[in-house]
Amino acid sequence: MSTTSESPVIQAPRGLAGVIVADTAVSDVRGAEGALQYRDRSAIDLAESARFEEAWQLLVTGEEATDAGRRSFARRIEEIRASLAGDVAAVVAAVTAATPDVMAGLSAAWSLLAARRGIRPVFDLGPAQRLDEAIAFAGSTPVIVGALWRRRNGEQPLPPLTGRGLVADYLHQVTGRVPDGDAEAALTAYLISVMDHGFNASTFTARVIASTGADTAACLVGALGALTGPLHGGAPSRALDGLDAVGAPERVEPWIRGELAAGRRLMGFGHAVYRTSDPRAELMKRIALRTGGARVDLAVRFEAAAQRLLAEAKPGRDLHTNVEFWAAIVMEQCGLPRSMFTPTFAVARAVGWTAHILEQAADPKIIRPSARYVGPPLRENAA
Ligand code: ACO
Repeated sequence: MSTTSESPVIQAPRGLAGVIVADTAVSDVRGAEGALQYRDRSAIDLAESARFEEAWQLLVTGEEATDAGRRSFARRIEEIRASLAGDVAAVVAAVTAATPDVMAGLSAAWSLLAARRGIRPVFDLGPAQRLDEAIAFAGSTPVIVGALWRRRNGEQPLPPLTGRGLVADYLHQVTGRVPDGDAEAALTAYLISVMDHGFNASTFTARVIASTGADTAACLVGALGALTGPLHGGAPSRALDGLDAVGAPERVEPWIRGELAAGRRLMGFGHAVYRTSDPRAELMKRIALRTGGARVDLAVRFEAAAQRLLAEAKPGRDLHTNVEFWAAIVMEQCGLPRSMFTPTFAVARAVGWTAHILEQAADPKIIRPSARYVGPPLRENAA
């Protein structure tokens, strides 16, 4: 560490790995022990037992869902969603005319929705108004994504399913079928398990933007951009592409060896924080195994070979399966098309992003690190 006259200068490690840049009470990722916590609850327990709306309430408000609290949060979601319906329909129509790409469409739809509703910078809002917007934008996400998917296929959005929650409704929009309880429970477990995950790249992006006082939609659009990257939320469809490329079980090991020899990464393996099993991957694997089938058998074989060969190729690195590998299988079992994997991830992570935007907005300090200049020295004025 060196010191200027103004403040200490610290050289952070590459990628800020292991650097604590803020305090948070939203979630805790303990990479060495393979644990994930939302507020005071195990995220995996919640994923196995709670409704999407309950985990959403816990993350965004910090309140455990009591019967009365659950009803009042559900009413709040419904009211906000009903008030957004006209604007959502208008922006979805406009965006669909411009592109069939659901991720680009969601980004544009959030921006347009913000402009139509005249939303104000979080800097200018009090906590209650910020919370309303956080719920509105996270709640708009499954509706926008489901409607974009249907419209890109030339279909009208379906009317909401009565008496079913957000997850069943989302599955209905995307698959066109009323989901059974198993598919709803499997997708709920996935969505809750990836709702939040400490200071991952997209969440950190959202918080940097929130620290400038910008509006909620601007923070979400930035976060979504980070999520599209193959090293972050863009991995699950590529994990299935890998299984397709392998084809037959006996080709698993030679295919993986070829990828590693070519210097390519195995999608769905490795993690920036976990140095042991990703607990979300274990949960997704348990769910995938319940259905079973040839795809699952191939995935089991692939996982075992990948972990063994990664240990050989990168000794001492502790590279395990991450959530994306088994999540891809579970989403496929639920009937979601591959191009909808990352948008579905965004449906869940929008909840975590908004929880972090609220936390960051309560702290008026802008996030503004420094860079070490390594370019050419200043040129003397040429005469
Ligand atoms: N396949 C092959 N090699 C890998 C993989 C992989 N999946 N993951 C890490 N490595 C290598 C790295 O290239 C690095 O090698 P080097 O030291 O020779 O440069 C070494 O293993 C150590 O890497 P880490 O420091 O552990 O990983 P890092 O923190 O840089 O990256 C990341 C983490 C981006 C997740 C990485 O493991 C990766 O690219 N995985 C594949 C993409 C993926 O599955 N992304 C989804 C992540 S989960 C999520 O975002 C929700």
